[in-house]
Amino acid sequence: MCQARRVVIDSFGMPEVMRLETVELPACEARQVRVRHTAIAFNFIDVYDREGRNSKALPSALGREAVGVVEAVGDEVTEFKVGDRVAYMDAGLGAYSNRRVLAVDRVVPVPDDLDDETVASLLMKGLTAQYLLKKTYPVKAGDLVLVHAAAGGVGQILCRWAKALGATVVGTVGSEAKVAVALAAGADHVINYSKPGWSQAFLAVTDGRKADVVYDSVGRDTFFESLECVASLGMMVISGAASGPIPDFSPSLLKKKGGLFLTSPSVAFHYKGREALLAGVDTLFDAIRQGFVRPAIGARYSLEDIVRMHRDAQARCLTGATVIVP
Ligand SMILES: NC(=O)c1ccc[n+]([C@@H]2O[C@H](COP(=O)([O-])OP(=O)(O)OC[C@H]3O[C@@H](n4cnc5c(N)ncnc54)[C@H](OP(=O)(O)O)[C@@H]3O)[C@@H](O)[C@H]2O)c1
Repeated sequence: MCQARRVVIDSFGMPEVMRLETVELPACEARQVRVRHTAIAFNFIDVYDREGRNSKALPSALGREAVGVVEAVGDEVTEFKVGDRVAYMDAGLGAYSNRRVLAVDRVVPVPDDLDDETVASLLMKGLTAQYLLKKTYPVKAGDLVLVHAAAGGVGQILCRWAKALGATVVGTVGSEAKVAVALAAGADHVINYSKPGWSQAFLAVTDGRKADVVYDSVGRDTFFESLECVASLGMMVISGAASGPIPDFSPSLLKKKGGLFLTSPSVAFHYKGREALLAGVDTLFDAIRQGFVRPAIGARYSLEDIVRMHRDAQARCLTGATVIVP
């Protein structure tokens, strides 16, 4: 038997609902591996999970992404052996732990030239940016792109990658302190959307041109004003809801704003099968090697400090990716 320390919740709510416990892990089933974590990713979706915005099952583990070393394999696992470096995302909740047992199908190999923290900081966020820029709306040279929360984890990746694709990028941030961060990530212009009338500030820096695509991960606080920034027949992407869910509205609004396209995609749909996951990861790792995607780790926490980390995230104190070192 093998013990693990993991974060669990018995009820949904504020960061304080999270607690650390020690549990006995079961032996691996035929198609499972046991992974000792070396770097765990914080993703903003962890906040939604903690608040009960996704599954309603309790008690619940938390965390969707980690990197580590294989410690044990089930009888039918041929893909990995003990000692291999691996990573996973979107493999069921439980990544906030020092080790766990999970299905091998969501686990990918980590190449020797990429370190654990780099992969933990970029796997889920990079795969998200990848499908948003290449599939949801294929960004091309000359496009005007608006990226909300541009100093954040996914936001920084979107800025740099969209810029590398030849787009002009306008980023938004919630405080003056984050302006320089978004500029350093590749945004051509940065707007502080905590100021009223930020869409006018957007149109001022673009000389009145509206965006071909808006990536809006903020949701409730920005959605309706974002519609003012999308060009006629342009694409409005609801890629997250950091400020809360968007209130119901009539689809006729999209016609009024210029026959807009609207989508609300998820990384879960884009890399569902193993083949799609491995292909997506290969492309992402190449983009990291070419420098289109760069690690930007803004902070590190321990598992013991998980409550403070969630508080900091919701106080909007963090920039770039946040890594938990177990
Ligand atoms: N659809 C998908 O497939 C997918 C996959 C991964 C992530 N996402 C979404 O992408 C977004 C970014 O994810 P991430 O993990 O990289 O997080 P993040 O951007 O590092 O953090 C979220 C950011 O949202 C901004 N924000 C605006 N209003 C907020 C509020 N009321 N409370 C807290 N933050 C607020 C903050 O930036 P400012 O202070 O600059 O406003 C904050 O830094 C999240 O919305 C997430 O749900 C979507």
